[in-house]
Amino acid sequence: MRKIAVLVGSLRRASINRTLAHALEKLGKDEFTFIYPDLNLPLYNDDLWENPPASVLALKRDLAEVDGIIFATPEFNRSIPAVLKNAIDWGSRPYGESSWTGKPISVIGASPGRIGTAAAQVGLRSVLVTQNAFVMGQPEVYLAFPEGLIDGDLAVTDDTTRDFLKEYLARFGEWIDKMPKLGK
Ligand code: FNR
Repeated sequence: MRKIAVLVGSLRRASINRTLAHALEKLGKDEFTFIYPDLNLPLYNDDLWENPPASVLALKRDLAEVDGIIFATPEFNRSIPAVLKNAIDWGSRPYGESSWTGKPISVIGASPGRIGTAAAQVGLRSVLVTQNAFVMGQPEVYLAFPEGLIDGDLAVTDDTTRDFLKEYLARFGEWIDKMPKLGK
């Protein structure tokens, strides 16, 4: 079993990105365990390291113990939501102790619009590369999310999308296995 931290860039209850993550969890349940670290963190402030917030320490602990990370990002104004950038900034510190370094990472996203978070993902990938993370190039998951794509039981209702998401998970599993294990 590979353990994956899924970082969902949306705090709202009905998030389609959270729903997508849960549907993936169901599709991959025989090979992956998913955890969902809480990203409701204070805004990044260097001064807070004097007495680090428990939520930040919990996030860094979670990231240290997983085999891989999936970012499930909404697109906000052609970029990533502040929730995700804030989590990345916290994870990148203290200097020299970035939680992202050497981690196999995949970026996915869902949007009701046709562009499917492509613009946000381009920016997110370039941020993660600065952390020496192993960001998977392909497959890319830009999911235009029509109503009903994932049903109340977290089943993907469209055959083509379901097959694609299964293939995506298999490829991310291979990516994790191929990457050198740094600091674990
Ligand atoms: C959006 N949305 C959006 N969608 C998109 O495809 N491109 C964009 O640039 C934006 N910009 C944007 C800005 C802000 C502030 C909000 C609140 C929304 C729509 C967005 O994709 C939609 O609300 C998704 O449902 C958000 O993802 P979650 O919360 O459902 O996971």
